[in-house]
Amino acid sequence: MDRGSDRQADGDGAAQPPDGLAAGNTAQSEAWNGDVGEYWVRRRAHQERRYRRLTPRLMAAAGIRADSRVLDIGCGSGGTALEAARAAAAGTVLGVDLSGPMLAEARRQAAAAGLPQVAFAQGDAQVHPFGAAAFDVVISRYGMMFFADPEGALRNIARALRPGGRLAFLCWRDLALNAYLTVPFEALAPYVPPPDFGAPGAPGPFSLADPGRIRALLDGAGFGGVSVEAVDEPMWMGTDEDDAVASLTAMPLTRSLLDQAGEEARGRALAALRETLAAHRGPDGVTLGCASWLVTAGRR
Ligand SMILES: C[S@@+](CC[C@H](N)C(=O)[O-])C[C@H]1O[C@@H](n2cnc3c(N)ncnc32)[C@H](O)[C@@H]1O
Repeated sequence: MDRGSDRQADGDGAAQPPDGLAAGNTAQSEAWNGDVGEYWVRRRAHQERRYRRLTPRLMAAAGIRADSRVLDIGCGSGGTALEAARAAAAGTVLGVDLSGPMLAEARRQAAAAGLPQVAFAQGDAQVHPFGAAAFDVVISRYGMMFFADPEGALRNIARALRPGGRLAFLCWRDLALNAYLTVPFEALAPYVPPPDFGAPGAPGPFSLADPGRIRALLDGAGFGGVSVEAVDEPMWMGTDEDDAVASLTAMPLTRSLLDQAGEEARGRALAALRETLAAHRGPDGVTLGCASWLVTAGRR
């Protein structure tokens, strides 16, 4: 199995950029090796619970077999790589990510779960030297939207997949359809500056919101049989409004917006957020809608 370079395979979780990072991905590497990555490690269990209705959709679409060789792009703290390893009990799974701290957490989780068939490498998936046709299945849970050069990244990923191999990934549809973000930030809006999710199409959570762009990118990279399916699921935000507020205000983005407000505005913002979230509390805790694309394709 391709395990990346020695330093990458054995990385100690240091918050350093990966070897061979593409110049255009420096800002992403800094964020995911910095406060954003720390937030994801700290909130790992919460994040897994947020995705609990989405992960099974991805895994079902991936069609992993017991002997599959699986590549997880932007695997983060390892949630889907571990799921893939459970499915590929006699196969192999490689999770690749920019973030040393998130990969350190992924390795801890894999060791605790007793899944020796999964390995992790710190690398930039846009340019990482994967073995040619080394994988049967490529998956990603919201890890495909951050490339400065998505055309190059998809060509690199296609090269790693054997002909006939399968790609399955989740990415976000338009921000306006994702109540899990619009509802909290609308509640905060009278008190704090608006969040910046980047220019349309620029690297960031919504860069693949346009299904036409997804299809063009996949076609250009050598994929066929492309399916782009809308997935609408409630996203769990917390056990109650206080838990949801704690989670949202731990996000580096929200923290920085609140830090820009004065003490009084901050207090009002948090009260408004709590009241808004309380209105979305049900038997399952606080939930808000989220809108994804589930993309599947085959390597031509
Ligand atoms: C939204 S998080 C999702 C993490 C994980 N897939 C999950 O579902 O928990 C996006 C992940 O993509 C990774 N990422 C962003 N750009 C990348 C790149 N060029 N190469 C590898 N990983 C990248 C980030 O470090 C981060 O872990």
